Amino acid sequence: MTSAHQGLSGLLDTEAIRKDFPLLDRVVHDGKKIVYLDSAATSQKPRQVLDALNQYYERHNANVHRGVYTVAEEATALYEGARDKVAAFINAPSRDEVIFTKNASESLNLVANMLGWADEPYRVDHETEIAITEMEHHSNIVPWQLLAQRTGAKLKWFGLTDDGRLDLSNIEEVITEKTKIVSFTLVSNLLGTINPVETIIRRAQEVGALVCIDASQAAPHMVLDVQALQADFVAFTGHKMCGPTGIGVLWGRQELLEDLPPFLGGGEMIETVSMHSSTYAPAPHKFEAGTPPIAQAVGLGAAVDYLSAIGMENIARHEHAITEYAVRRLQEVPDLRIIGPTTAEDRGAAISFTLGDIHPHDVGQVLDEEGIAVRVGHHCARPVCLRYGIPATTRASFYLYSTPAEVDALVAGLEHVRNFFG
Ligand code: ALA
Repeated sequence: MTSAHQGLSGLLDTEAIRKDFPLLDRVVHDGKKIVYLDSAATSQKPRQVLDALNQYYERHNANVHRGVYTVAEEATALYEGARDKVAAFINAPSRDEVIFTKNASESLNLVANMLGWADEPYRVDHETEIAITEMEHHSNIVPWQLLAQRTGAKLKWFGLTDDGRLDLSNIEEVITEKTKIVSFTLVSNLLGTINPVETIIRRAQEVGALVCIDASQAAPHMVLDVQALQADFVAFTGHKMCGPTGIGVLWGRQELLEDLPPFLGGGEMIETVSMHSSTYAPAPHKFEAGTPPIAQAVGLGAAVDYLSAIGMENIARHEHAITEYAVRRLQEVPDLRIIGPTTAEDRGAAISFTLGDIHPHDVGQVLDEEGIAVRVGHHCARPVCLRYGIPATTRASFYLYSTPAEVDALVAGLEHVRNFFG
């Protein structure tokens, strides 16, 4: 740690943590060690998760809920054990409220489709409305557009303020007596904004609308307590929280999961099937048709163990310190404009910015030559770019293994970009 970092408090022991992440040792371009600043896209994986995946495939691989032999029972116990771990991680009242999907997009599509096929009082139809926000990832826009097109429901959304927050000034017009579902992100993947959940939920509850929260950028970074949140559905993905790809989660309130219809039909989601009709297994199995992502769930269980051992409060504190430092240092770079809040209080650790009129793809390419990995583009949140009149941004995002020295490397890299483009 250099003297510039002395004032930073709450940092984790990253020297020890980084030893768990083999990829962080990668050398790219001319012997330069990777500076991985793209955890909002996907996090790196600790050895503990890689070992759990390997162990599963080497020792316990079988299909779940089907076999009566030893290895199949072990596979089932590991898969269902992962559900217990995730339920505890998000403080779910019941393990049966945790549905495994393939990613957050599938979780959000599942909610949209349940409501599209549901009976009253949940059904979304041409007399009802759906409310989202302009800062959503495409995965929390497109499923609702599809549902609105299919049912004739009206899609409404909250706009954004100039400083990258939700504009809730017209909350009573966006969420009305006709609103059936309000779906919004807890933390924006592009702006980094942490949204005022309570205000939105209070209004939704006033009009009897359901609430779905996209917690993809929250679950990896902060304590996620679904009981405290008071939403009806919470979606997130494993690969951003040290888990493997191919595993997502939808948490839903038990009575809703009992009442709502399944979306995908197939093996293991049924109670009984005849050639004329079928009845369904109780949740969560009702929503998990076919062979599920077994190894991936086991890997997510190991990721949850890993994060819990470090402590989500400690991870949040670390990221807050890094974010505060990064926001301060980035603002010292001439011509750099942060797109999103410039205070660390109500933002997460994904920081988007523009650098003069240098195209973000050029910024990303020159940074890559320095070994620095950032994401460039519209980050699957194109309406945000349209709102701020920019084609794209460069985004640096931090996690439990990020260090102040990596922030310094980014700032030095950006100086290099500026010199390169004159
Ligand atoms: N949703 C991921 C991101 O924001 C892919 O980069």
